[in-house]
Amino acid sequence: MTIREMETRDLDAVVEVHRRAFPGFFLTRMGRPFLRAYYQAALDYAPGIALVSEDGSDRTLRGFVVGFREPQGFYALFSARRRRLLPAILVAVLRDPGLAGGILRNMRRVSDQAAHPVDAAELASIGVDGQGRGVGGELLEAFCRRAADAGLRQVVLTTDAEGNDGVRAFYERRGFVLDGVEVRGERRLCRYVRALG
Ligand SMILES: CC(C)(COP(=O)(O)OP(=O)(O)OC[C@H]1O[C@@H](n2cnc3c(N)ncnc32)[C@H](O)[C@@H]1OP(=O)(O)O)[C@@H](O)C(=O)NCCC(=O)NCCS
Repeated sequence: MTIREMETRDLDAVVEVHRRAFPGFFLTRMGRPFLRAYYQAALDYAPGIALVSEDGSDRTLRGFVVGFREPQGFYALFSARRRRLLPAILVAVLRDPGLAGGILRNMRRVSDQAAHPVDAAELASIGVDGQGRGVGGELLEAFCRRAADAGLRQVVLTTDAEGNDGVRAFYERRGFVLDGVEVRGERRLCRYVRALG
């Protein structure tokens, strides 16, 4: 397994791994073009950290992790591209009207990000194909090393509070400490923090 920087040529494979890792989640339900634009923005955002894990033998992409220093800048960049994404958003909402509430909440999130600590990296998305083989753990450690090398002092993330014990234990065994609970619509999310260094 090799971990390296994500590149534009990886985006189609990243989208497919995301769709399999997050069935029924908001970004997946928004459809492939929206999902691709999200990961493209993560690549284009200079303070972003975007890594992939690929199989050493056949170079198949096995997993990815994406996050940001100064995450409020990322959400501003992504929301500035919303006009370009309008056709994809309209198609998604016509197909799945339940998405409308989530879209409005995500638009508001841009302003909510202002209180984010300046010395933190937000881990926004991590997913693998074939769980339980150590790929996610390696990606998580690589992400934390990159953040520490960039001079940051903590990594923060949110993950579902309910029905998500395996993923929460994955983070807790790797040094993440519960720092509070956020409510987004009908979802309750645990906020975790890991101190670096
Ligand atoms: C979470 C995820 C990235 C972990 O990657 P992974 O390659 O499976 O992780 P590893 O093999 O390094 O470690 C697996 C560990 O997590 C636990 N685990 C992870 N996800 C789990 C799940 N859904 N159910 C039960 N246990 C899970 C395993 O029991 C194992 O325990 P360990 O800490 O004693 O080793 C991966 O399971 C995944 O893609 N999940 C779906 C997407 C997701 O939920 N991402 C996180 C959103 S915040």
